[in-house]
Amino acid sequence: MKRNFVAPNVYIRGTGSYLPETVVPNAHFEKIGSSDEWIFSKLGIKERRIVANGQTTSDLAAEAGRRAIENAGLTTDDIDLILVATATPDRPAPSCACFVQEKLQARKTVAFDVAAVCSGALFTISVGVQYIRSGMYQNVLVIGADTFSNITDWERRDAVFFGDGAGALVLSATDEDKGFVDFVLHSDGKGKEGFSIPAGGSEMPASAETVANKLHTFRMDGKAVYDTAIQVVPECIEEILSKNSLTVDQVDYLIPHQPSIRILQDIARRVGMPFEKVKTNMDKYANTSGGTIPILLDEVHRAGTFSGGDLLLFAAVGAGWTWGTALYKW
Ligand SMILES: CC(C)(COP(=O)(O)OP(=O)(O)OC[C@H]1O[C@@H](n2cnc3c(N)ncnc32)[C@H](O)[C@@H]1OP(=O)(O)O)[C@@H](O)C(=O)NCCC(=O)NCCS
Repeated sequence: MKRNFVAPNVYIRGTGSYLPETVVPNAHFEKIGSSDEWIFSKLGIKERRIVANGQTTSDLAAEAGRRAIENAGLTTDDIDLILVATATPDRPAPSCACFVQEKLQARKTVAFDVAAVCSGALFTISVGVQYIRSGMYQNVLVIGADTFSNITDWERRDAVFFGDGAGALVLSATDEDKGFVDFVLHSDGKGKEGFSIPAGGSEMPASAETVANKLHTFRMDGKAVYDTAIQVVPECIEEILSKNSLTVDQVDYLIPHQPSIRILQDIARRVGMPFEKVKTNMDKYANTSGGTIPILLDEVHRAGTFSGGDLLLFAAVGAGWTWGTALYKW
C-alpha cells in the first residue's frame, strides 16, 4: 500500500460514440397507430438509429470505445479497466465488457458490466472514478451501449421511445484542479415494475410460452416513469448543489439522460434552469438508454462547447428505479 496517498482528481480525457447507420423515422410508426406529430410533440424525437442484422451491442460499444481511446491520445495498452453499462448485452453471460475487450484486443485490461439501465452510464462512471481515486487504476474506459431494438415489441406503440447506440469516455488521473467533484446516487427497488423485461431471468426463464407472449420485450409504465423522473431528478439536483454549496446559476451545462423532451423541460423548470443550458440530441437518436449521456457528451465535447472551468451537471433516471447526479469541473 502507498503511504501518504493523496487521491488524484479524475477527469474526462477523451470521448467517443458510435451510432448504427440505419435511420428509422417517426413515419415508420404510422402503421401501428402513432404519428410524427405525437412523437415529436410529446417526446422530442424525429428519428432513431437501429442496428443492422447481426450487429451486436458490443460491436457498437467497441467502436465507441476505440474512438474514445483515440480521442484521449492513448492506445488500448494504456487502459487498465473496461466498464460497460448495458441492459442489452450480447449474451446474458459472459459480460458485454469481455466481448468489447476481445474486439479491442485490450489483453491487459480487467473488464466487467454494470447494470443500472438508463442510469447505467452515470453509475458506471462513478465506479470508474472510485478505482482511479483509490490509486488502483490510472485509465478507465467507460462505455454505455444498448440495442433496445432487440427488446422492443415493434407492434406496440411504445416502440417509438428508444434507439440503439453507444458512447464512451476515458477517465484518467490528474493533479490539475479539474474533473469530477461529486456524485449523488439513489436506488429504489419498489419501482421495478415501472420498466422491466419480464422473462429470460431466474424469475421467469425462457420458454415457448414466454416467447409466444412476447415477454422478452420491455414493459413500461410511461406515466410512472414520467411522474418519478420529474420528482426525483430535481430533488437530486438540489441535493448535489446544496451538498457542494452551489446554486443552479453556477452550473454552465446540464448533460442529462434523454428520456423525453417534456421530462427534460419539466426538470429544468423545477430547478430554475434556463433550457438553453440543457443539452439534448434525442431528436436524432431517441432514448439509447445506457448510451445517452456518453453519446451526448461526445457530441458536445467535439463541438468545442466546453471551456476550462465550466461546471457541468450530469443527471440520469431509469429502471429500478435508479437515479443520480454528478458535478464536473471542465
Ligand atoms: C408516455 C407519455 C408520453 C404519455 O403522456 P400523457 O400525456 O400522459 O399521455 P396519455 O397516456 O394520457 O396519452 C395521451 C394520448 O396519447 C396517445 N398515445 C399514447 N402513446 C402513443 C403513441 N406511442 N403514439 C401515439 N399516440 C399515443 C394515448 O392513446 C392518448 O390518446 P387519447 O388522448 O386519445 O386517449 C408520458 O407519460 C411520458 O413521456 N412518459 C415517460 C416515458 C419515458 O420517458 N420512457 C423512457 C424512459 S424508461
